[in-house]
This record gives sequence, C-alpha cells and structure tokens, in this order.
Amino acid sequence: MKKPRHRSPSSQSMQGRALLTTALLVSFACPAASQPPLPQNDGKKHLGPSSCSGPVCHSAKQELANIYGDEWLVWREDDRHSKAYEVLKNSESKRIAKNLGYEQPAWEVGICLDCHADHVSKDMRGPRFKLSTGVGCESCHGGSQDWASKHDNVRPHSENLADGMYPADEPVARAALCTSCHYGNKDKFVTHRIMGAGHPRMSFELQVFSNIQPAHFVVDDDYLARGKKAEEGMKVWAIGQVMSVRASIDALLDPKRNRDGAWPELVLFDCHACHHAMSEKRWRSRASTGTLGPGVPRLNDSSFLMVRYAFTAVDADGAKDFAGDLNELHSAVSESEVRKRAVAIRMRDRLDALIPELDSWEVDAQAVRSVLKALLRDGTRGEFLDYAGAEQASLASQALFENLYTLGALSEATLDKVAAENETLLAIVADEENYSRAKATASFKRLAALVQ
Ligand code: HEC
Ligand code: HEC
Ligand code: HEC
Ligand code: HEC
Repeated sequence: MKKPRHRSPSSQSMQGRALLTTALLVSFACPAASQPPLPQNDGKKHLGPSSCSGPVCHSAKQELANIYGDEWLVWREDDRHSKAYEVLKNSESKRIAKNLGYEQPAWEVGICLDCHADHVSKDMRGPRFKLSTGVGCESCHGGSQDWASKHDNVRPHSENLADGMYPADEPVARAALCTSCHYGNKDKFVTHRIMGAGHPRMSFELQVFSNIQPAHFVVDDDYLARGKKAEEGMKVWAIGQVMSVRASIDALLDPKRNRDGAWPELVLFDCHACHHAMSEKRWRSRASTGTLGPGVPRLNDSSFLMVRYAFTAVDADGAKDFAGDLNELHSAVSESEVRKRAVAIRMRDRLDALIPELDSWEVDAQAVRSVLKALLRDGTRGEFLDYAGAEQASLASQALFENLYTLGALSEATLDKVAAENETLLAIVADEENYSRAKATASFKRLAALVQ
C-alpha cells in the first residue's frame, strides 16, 4: 500500500474547504536563467487531459505500481483546476467581462483564458486539445508531445524532463508555476481594475496549497527512486514565499504593471489599508513598516514578512539587511520612484542569492521549531495586525506544525490540539470582512504554547 495522501489531520481538514476565498499577491518571476520555460510557453504540443485518462494510465480504478493511477479522477472530481474554464461561463465572470467593457464573453478573452485554461498558442494544440478542459495536466506538467508515449511509472524522472516534462517536483520551479497564475507574471496579471470589476482577491501559499489542491501524488520511496525531489514542509513554504516576494518585486519594477495612469497599481498594496469602514480607527505603527505614517497606502508585505523568518534561519545578517530594505521600500514607494527602484533591485538580488541557500537547506526539527516560535511570538505581539499578514501567518503555522509532525517532533496528541487551534485561526482569517485582530492575536498565543 502506498502512504495515504493526506497524512496529518490539519491538512485533511483543510481539504475541500473553500479556504480563504480570495487573497494575496504572488507572481511568477524567473530568478535563475536556468529555469525551464513554463508549460504555457514550452513550445511543445499539448495533447489535452483526455489523452491522460486511460484506465491503465491516470484514471485507473486500482492502484498502479508506484503511482495511484487515479490522478485524472482526482483532478476531474476534487480539483478546482478542472472547473477553471467553466467558471468563466458563470454570472460572476459575465459581470466582470461586462464591467471591463469586453466585447467578447469572458471565455473568449485571452487574459482570462491565460489563467483559467491551458491557453497555449494554436500551433501547440494537439488534435484532441480543448480549451474547455480548464487548467489540465499539461498546464502543470508541460506539453506531452515528446513524452506522452514514453513515460511510465518506472521511467527515471530525468528522462521525462529531458523530453520536456516540467519539473513540478522542484520547489523553485513549482513556485514559479503556481504563482504565474495565483499572482500573475509579466504576461498575465490581475490588476486592481479587474478586481474592481469583481475578480476575487487571490491568496496563495505553496506548501498548504500543494496539499489541498488536493495533491494527487505522494512523496514516498518509489517517488525518490525515480529521481524526484522529495521536498515538503518548511522548505517548500520558504521557497514559495521567496518566489512570491520575487514576483511582487518584479511587478513593482515593471513599468507596465506598477502604474495605472497617474496612480500606482493598487493591487500591489494592502487591500484593507483602503477597504475598511472610516469609523474604524485601525491605524497603528508597526515595526516592519518603518517610518511610514498614517494615511499612506501600504504595500502588501505579507510574504515579505514570512521571508524574513526563513532568511533568519539560514543567514541572520542577510535577514537584518532584508528587514532594513523592507522598511526603506515602504517609505520609498510613496516618496520616490528612484529610491523605490534602487531598493527593490537590491532586495531582488538578495533573494536571488538566498534561493540556492534555501534549495540546499537541510531542514531539521530544530530549524522548524525556531522559525515557528519566532513567527508565533511576533503574532502574539501583534505584528500581524493586518489581515493579509495574519492570513499568511496562519498558513505558515499550518505548514510548519505539520512539518514538525512529519519530522517526528510533534506527538499525535499535540497535533490534534494544533489542528483544532489552526482551524480556529483559519476561521478567523477566512472571514475577511469581520477579521478581528484581537482574536487572531489570542489564537497565535495559544498556538505558541503548543510548540514543543
Ligand atoms: C493571473 C491569473 C488570472 C487571471 C488573469 C484571471 N484569473 Fe480569475 N482566478 C485566478 C485564480 C488563481 C483564481 C482563484 C482565486 C482563489 O480562490 O484563491 C481565480 C478566480 C476567479 C473567479 C472565482 C472562481 C470561483 O470558483 O469562485 C472568477 C469568477 C474568475 N476568476 C474570473 C476571471 C475572469 C472573468 C478573468 C478575466 C477578466 C480572470 N478571472 C482572469 C487567476 C486569474
Ligand atoms: C495545478 C497543477 C497540476 C495539475 C493541473 C496536474 N498536476 Fe499532476 N502534479 C502536480 C504536482 C505539483 C505534482 C508533484 C510533483 C511531481 O511529482 O511532479 C504532481 C504529480 C503528479 C504525478 C506523479 C505521481 C508520482 O508518484 O510520481 C502524476 C502521475 C500526475 N501528477 C498526473 C497528473 C495528471 C494525469 C493530471 C491531469 C489529470 C495532473 N497531474 C494535473 C501538479 C499538477
Ligand atoms: C494555468 C493557471 C494555474 C496554474 C499553473 C495553477 N493554478 Fe491553481 N488555480 C487556478 C485557477 C484559475 C483557480 C480557480 C479555479 C476555480 O475556482 O474554478 C485555481 C485554484 C486553485 C486552488 C483552489 C483554491 C481555493 O481557494 O479553493 C488551489 C489549492 C490551487 N489552485 C493550487 C495550485 C497549486 C499548488 C499550483 C501549482 C502546483 C497551481 N494551483 C497552479 C489557476 C492555476
Ligand atoms: C490605495 C487604496 C486602495 C487599495 C490599496 C485597494 N483598493 Fe480597491 N478600490 C479603491 C478605490 C478608490 C475603489 C473605487 C471605489 C468606488 O468605485 O467607489 C476601489 C474599488 C474596489 C472594488 C470594487 C468595489 C465596488 O464597489 O464595486 C473592489 C472589489 C476592490 N477595490 C478590491 C480591492 C482589492 C482586492 C485590493 C487588494 C488587492 C484593493 N482593492 C486595494 C482603493 C483601493
């Protein structure tokens, strides 16, 4: 028997829940020149999910050797990606398209299809390819033209990669892939105008979202034997956060995306800095925002804050510099384009140097514990007063506690308590309209007491 896919109660309880319905800003940015092209631009023919669904391939009723064989069934039944195109036909999408003044319906608009389907150019579509299948196998695994007939459950992963399969097992590549749609990249981006027209806010965290997709793979011995990267837990969380920040910085530096006429592009800012009742006097100074005073829109820095914790674990001095840069970025954004560019570029360089360090990070229980402690301590002190920060911290808490458990450093009994408290915290951040800072802080405190 293969290991069950969802091992810990906390990830199980998240599965199937419409999580934090909307959310954070993340986008694809390719830090290393060596990154492979994303599936959408891989130049290979995409054959469509129907070519993957054979009964001895990915819709098997019985477990196959090495893989479950039911990946297509999981995708079709439980994975929202298979519904991503259908969503473009619903009344919400009709309203968005109408509000934006599009002449075509949303399901014919290129920018919508870019994230809601496997929107490859016409010459990359095989005979059975259909846009209507939504975000399909090849949107994540790459065009299968050169590997469809060769890949089987024993072929070494490297041979599939050489034939153009996308390395979704590698955390940096996976983060680039997911964030390309869950935040946007230079080619596709959900602007404040699109959000204003009715598009939900987007939130993303690589480790938790990889589990709740739901995962149709399991990292076990045979997975490793085929030469796949077996990263899970804190490392995937950290790399996901770095890539999110990398993507925000790219958007800040991209003249096409950082402005909307005379205004800055508002989607890069903390939504709730503007969207809340005027009677609610919520402004407080906060260490991580430096000298930025009241009444100034604030960048959405939720992932920047998460990166600081991972940074501290591998390079304490670098992390201090990064924190100083973040303070500087906050004020530079509202004061000077020149300073903003300079600090953003400096931060990008720091992150590019950090990525290989995180990629080769040997994570042990002690490391997870210290990151978790620092994060929850700051949560207890009210550092995540903003909704977006609390949301990311709650996802981090889930990913890191789970990692402690998989490393054998958390008892079943404590895990149960953690899962229950994480549920409470998730419920607090799931209701964005009624987010209570006091409740979130109290929950962080109870979680902090559970770190063993
Ligand atoms: C950069 C990628 C991207 C672009 C561009 C994009 N979307 Fe989305 N869209 C998403 C993601 C990701 C979600 C899921 C958000 C979540 O739940 O976290 C989503 C969610 C939605 C939803 C809500 C779906 C649901 O199940 O409730 C609708 C409706 C929607 N998009 C319509 C559109 C339309 C219409 C367009 C074109 C104007 C568009 N989207 C452009 C990525 C994108
Ligand atoms: C949203 C992205 C996404 C979509 C869509 C997707 N996958 Fe995956 N899939 C992944 C990720 C991430 C992994 C884990 C990394 C890896 O093993 O490559 C994975 C792993 C797998 C594995 C490896 C299991 C193992 O033990 O080696 C198979 C097989 C698979 N997917 C088949 C499919 C099929 C078939 C479809 C379409 C029905 C599909 N995937 C759609 C992201 C996706
Ligand atoms: C080609 C674009 C695309 C890629 C690549 C992609 N996603 Fe998505 N994802 C979407 C869209 C669009 C939706 C919303 C679909 C809907 O609501 O019907 C979505 C929804 C989801 C959801 C459900 C969110 C919720 O609020 O319930 C999860 C989880 C998710 N994606 C995880 C991932 C992960 C993990 C990866 C990378 C392995 C990934 N996605 C890659 C476009 C994409
Ligand atoms: C700098 C301030 C500011 C920030 C930051 C900001 N918005 Fe807005 N938003 C506005 C303004 C101004 C409007 C237009 C209000 C109107 O038309 O009455 C608006 C309108 C909207 C609307 C349309 C509301 C309606 O009445 O139809 C939505 C939805 C929205 N914003 C979502 C977001 C999201 C999501 C974010 C974060 C990603 C965000 N906003 C960030 C200022 C902001």
